[in-house]
Amino acid sequence: MNAHMKDDLLLMIPGPVPVAERILRAMAKPMIGHRGKEFGEVYRECREILASLFQTRNEIFILSGSGTSAMEAAIGNLLGPEDTLVAVENGKFGGRFREIGESYCQVEAVKFNWGSPIDLDVVEEALERVDAKAISIVHNETSTGIKNPAQEIGKLARKHDCIFIMDGVTSIGGDLVEVDRWGVDIAVVGSQKCIGAPPGLSAISVSEKAWDSLSEKRPYYLDLPSYRKSAAKNQTPYTPAIPLFYAFQEALRMIREEGLEERIRRHALLSQAVRSAIEALGLRMFPRLNSVSSYSNTVTAVEMPPEVTDEGLRGGMKKLGVQISGGQGELAGKIFRIGTMGNINHREILTTLQALELTLKKHGVIPSTGRGIEAATEVLEELN
Ligand SMILES: Cc1ncc(COP(=O)(O)O)c(C=O)c1O
Repeated sequence: MNAHMKDDLLLMIPGPVPVAERILRAMAKPMIGHRGKEFGEVYRECREILASLFQTRNEIFILSGSGTSAMEAAIGNLLGPEDTLVAVENGKFGGRFREIGESYCQVEAVKFNWGSPIDLDVVEEALERVDAKAISIVHNETSTGIKNPAQEIGKLARKHDCIFIMDGVTSIGGDLVEVDRWGVDIAVVGSQKCIGAPPGLSAISVSEKAWDSLSEKRPYYLDLPSYRKSAAKNQTPYTPAIPLFYAFQEALRMIREEGLEERIRRHALLSQAVRSAIEALGLRMFPRLNSVSSYSNTVTAVEMPPEVTDEGLRGGMKKLGVQISGGQGELAGKIFRIGTMGNINHREILTTLQALELTLKKHGVIPSTGRGIEAATEVLEELN
């Protein structure tokens, strides 16, 4: 690959996502002290816009760490060695909550095959079987392209008086998430996904119920009461990643300008366009759904056609300037994933589908190109 192409590689993976010019530029501002008014205003504005994305009145904090740091903050602040976490898992990131839980507390794992939907009866049986302090789920399971029933799990959590911890890393800012209405006690998001900022920050919302249920022993760097105390002064307890905060602020302003409803609609249409193309090309979607789950609105996971290898497909697309993702862990080589998150539009979708079709044709998967793009275009016509 020549240098020009490498610079121009279109990132269509489920995060990090392409970062808009004005967001990149924001990072180049001069450094400021983090205890001054100027940083305080950046922090305040970011938290205010985040509250509208999370649809919550709960307090929100921004951590200088990727999505996993917020996942760890959730578990580490709430669950101690005597407590039990019901960790619902139908993909890699559900498994991550279980693994984090294993370093802090007792874990009752409720596992479904990767790519399968969550069966609510099985979850409820687990909540009846053990005296759980909290339940964790991933709303949008990025590894398999499925949207899990967060609202319904919220109802079960309430019924069983459990704290509800939800990973919204690849849904918040791109799909509908109603933290207060769904009864989510802790919700987390990452900067490099639907919000469209560079990687390195995450945000976490904490309900009153969660504050009342803090564990005695908590992580030092991720101690939520310390974040709360500092936030009262519009500060973070430790030195924040200031350039990333600048970028985050700009990305959140872009969301405010677009309007959350419109942004969610755009994400839904972009993923629907990809799904229509996949269907028109005769490929199979990877996740299996039930009545309470749906295909993700931010990432599309597709079964790898038998005629082509992972390297053949993704390597071929990369040569055409488009990077998509493969399967993670046990799904390596078996699926490919196309992210449709952040500040992208028709152009990125059509470029991606063109590279996909050309590569599929080269490997004899499809006889001719054009069908997928045509199907996608019909959906994209609904975009503003
Ligand atoms: C659903 C989900 N949760 C958690 C994470 C982990 O986030 P990070 O890589 O920012 O730590 C990811 C990353 O892809 C994700 O998609």
